[in-house]
Amino acid sequence: MQVIVTKSYDESCQVVAQMFCELIRQKPDCKLGLATGGTPVPMYKKLIEANKAGEVDFSRVRTVNLDEYCGIPATHPQSYRYFMDENLFDHVNIDKANTYVANGLGDAAANAAALEQKVREGGAADLQLLGIGNNGHIAFNEAGDALVAEAHIEQLTESTINANARFFASREEVPTSAITMGMADILAAKKIVLMANGPAKADAIRGLIGDGRITTQNPSTLLKLHPDVVVVIEEELAKAAGWQG
Ligand code: F6R
Repeated sequence: MQVIVTKSYDESCQVVAQMFCELIRQKPDCKLGLATGGTPVPMYKKLIEANKAGEVDFSRVRTVNLDEYCGIPATHPQSYRYFMDENLFDHVNIDKANTYVANGLGDAAANAAALEQKVREGGAADLQLLGIGNNGHIAFNEAGDALVAEAHIEQLTESTINANARFFASREEVPTSAITMGMADILAAKKIVLMANGPAKADAIRGLIGDGRITTQNPSTLLKLHPDVVVVIEEELAKAAGWQG
């Protein structure tokens, strides 16, 4: 695992955006695994700027998102489809037919099977973007006694519901379950980049980069099984997580 410590969150976003741009230039029809949440928003802004500046062409890029809330339609402003359109897809020259965000409504088993099929279609993602939950979750694979390999429906923990309440009018409106890629889906990507910022992530990041232990109580630690993972954090978070370098 490679850990990149930057001077600022903005620099972290620059580093990750650069990785995406380089990949897309090298492989214009690459397959990207994308994430939502607050963390990648400024990184997506940089991709939009690069696209507008003619530095990167999304016309042949394919994407699959990690997860989607259950119980809200794609038209809901907090759905992850809406998020992706608003924060990236509507502002770059991507063909929306080449983008996939799971369906959170209707037959849950069928929706999970459809996500699993998209993960596999056309082979592994060339680059998978991840954020990390305060409890170490990646996608919506929540900390607990066991993890699930394939795409599935996950009940969100109190910690995750509380953390995501900031995006909704009230805590009661936060969906309590989500459809998510499983651990094997994430680990199947050829390369993984995880971004994190802010002190709330310090414990989760300590578990990820602090030692060699793997535990389902911090799902991100399973990334230690993958040969090509890059973790990008700013120095404040690195310090809070006890990173020695
Ligand atoms: C989002 C996702 C989640 C988030 C995590 C961190 O698609 O898969 O695992 O990456 O909850 O969220 P933020 O970035 O809002 O702190």
